Amino acid sequence: MPKALNVAMIGGGFMGKAHAAAYAAMPMFFWPAPAIPVRKVIVDINDAAAEEGRLRYGFAEASSDWRSVVARPDIDIVDIVTPNDTHAEIAIAAAGAGKHIICEKPLARTGDEARAMWDAVRKAGVVNMVAFNYRRTPAVALARKYIEEGRIGRILNFRGTYLQDWSADPDSPLSWRFQKKIAGSGAIGDIGTHVVDIARYLVGEVAEVCALVRTYHKTRPVQSGGLDKLGAAEKNASSERGDVDVDDEVVTLLRFADGAIGSLEATRNAYGRNNFLTFEIHGSKGSLCFNYERRDELQVMFADDPSDARGFRTVYTGPAHPYGSGLWPIPALGIGYTETKIIECYDFFSAVVSGTQPSPDFEDGYLTACVADALGESGEGGTWVKVRQ
Ligand code: NAI
Repeated sequence: MPKALNVAMIGGGFMGKAHAAAYAAMPMFFWPAPAIPVRKVIVDINDAAAEEGRLRYGFAEASSDWRSVVARPDIDIVDIVTPNDTHAEIAIAAAGAGKHIICEKPLARTGDEARAMWDAVRKAGVVNMVAFNYRRTPAVALARKYIEEGRIGRILNFRGTYLQDWSADPDSPLSWRFQKKIAGSGAIGDIGTHVVDIARYLVGEVAEVCALVRTYHKTRPVQSGGLDKLGAAEKNASSERGDVDVDDEVVTLLRFADGAIGSLEATRNAYGRNNFLTFEIHGSKGSLCFNYERRDELQVMFADDPSDARGFRTVYTGPAHPYGSGLWPIPALGIGYTETKIIECYDFFSAVVSGTQPSPDFEDGYLTACVADALGESGEGGTWVKVRQ
């Protein structure tokens, strides 16, 4: 029987919900599970929030003191699902206590902060993962498989977008995501890094960027308190407004280390786009195209397709594709956001049990943070900036 591993989850907001659901569901999907995730302790900013999280997300205990929790000998895994400014301090303490760590993205606010986290986990020798879950969408993993098999040849061009509209309304509240001291950056770190992660996963290292960065709404209504009020649906009536000091949008050219070129756009202000995480990749022998809003589908065109049937066709992911054996028995039944987190949980627990390093790990989180730093720097000066490696 799989052994049990005790999880301390720090944070019980949007991602706390996703991770808790994955802990409960992972063994139901992937059986035999590498280990059974035990929802041992949930930590939040105060006792009331932690207790609510305990009841809602099925944890045995609640606490408002992450420091004492990460030091507990009965905790095997620390899961960091708090805002970005807390990731480094919690991860470094958890690594020091010998815990395996999964941390939400972006790994940190800056490359320097991410580097300190990577150094800490390397020194401690603990298993570590950064939660860029979109690369675990089966269709995205299938794109990687086709690329590794040489099915589209040498990659020439990567075109990635992440477009949302939840902050398009200037009166949507001043989420922590608009505050540099908490978030580090805006669309760049929040959603642009997901595209960077996919670009690194499918194409390789980004060597240089040339970006335009814009902030459209310089102030937003201060939140009334409590949990983050993300998006216009939670509009705050307060007339008091606070400063936005992060980017709303980034548009950039990319030059990859192996010679491929590309582009990336990320914004949370694109009315009509909801979770428009897309990529199109052109290779010397074919092309691949993906849109998360149709996440069961990968569009493919191979150069040796019959000449009377040229054009993209749709592959619906299912049991024959990556992770398919653990998911649903028929293609296109529909996988969702939760499934990407269940797969992430499966891969992380597999790595912990086998003592191997999963991907993306904190090194990947650091390298992605370096691309984010370069995008911010390039966006200020409008010039090409080399990515620190
Ligand atoms: P949230 O604001 O909804 O939840 C954060 C939770 O952490 C709240 O319950 C808050 O009270 C708690 N918290 C804050 N400071 C704390 C502290 N010092 N100790 C204990 N608890 C504390 O934020 P959300 O959306 O869950 O974001 C968390 C992280 O997940 C961020 O790094 C974010 O970038 C990332 N994220 C990742 C997504 C993905 O697709 N992988 C999607 C959304 C967020």
